Amino acid sequence: MSRILLLLLLIRHSESSIDLCPASCSCSMIETHGLIVNCSSRHLSAVPDLPVTTVRLYLQNNQLTTVAPGTLDHLVSLQEVDFSGNPWNCDCSILYLKVWLESQPVQRNPANVQCATPTLTSMKAFQDLTGNEMPRCGRPWPIKCKKFFVRDLYMNGLVVVVLILMSYVARIARKLSCRVAVSPKFPQTTFAKESNKSK
Ligand SMILES: *[C@@H]1O[C@H](CO)[C@@H](O)[C@H](O)[C@H]1NC(C)=O
Repeated sequence: MSRILLLLLLIRHSESSIDLCPASCSCSMIETHGLIVNCSSRHLSAVPDLPVTTVRLYLQNNQLTTVAPGTLDHLVSLQEVDFSGNPWNCDCSILYLKVWLESQPVQRNPANVQCATPTLTSMKAFQDLTGNEMPRCGRPWPIKCKKFFVRDLYMNGLVVVVLILMSYVARIARKLSCRVAVSPKFPQTTFAKESNKSK
């Protein structure tokens, strides 16, 4: 009896996973609870609500122009994504999607994830965007650059400390070598020996 209940529960669970499939897409199960969510070529202008269990996400060949920040953060089980063939509008807000895509394990057709607007960026692949195409971006564009700067700051600090230590050591070494040179015993004895030989 309890076994049948468990079986029913399991069936219900896998059903509910499929039930979460966005209305505009088609889904199929993979592995235990993973979903292949196929939303490609559906004239979508917005990313639909996607189930947490999404393992593969196909959104290629739609009318998507932007993705609101945070929209894709809950998709922690993804193995493969395809966002190519959409007329992306590459203003500052596209940064979220660019960074998110770069963090994905497998991106199909990355070269075809391109900007359609504005003019300055059109036909540019996401991977070639540097941020300089968007002169009026309010927020600092490259997060990586900030990290780099902070790391560099530490490195520079370290170099300064090492330089100070080195100059300190050099000063001590100079004092020591001075004392050796001034020391009268050694040169006198050699001189004495030499003068003995010459006699
Ligand atoms: C996704 O759906 C499209 C359109 O219905 C179809 O042509 C394509 O083969 C499907 N792709 C996959 C991986 O199932």
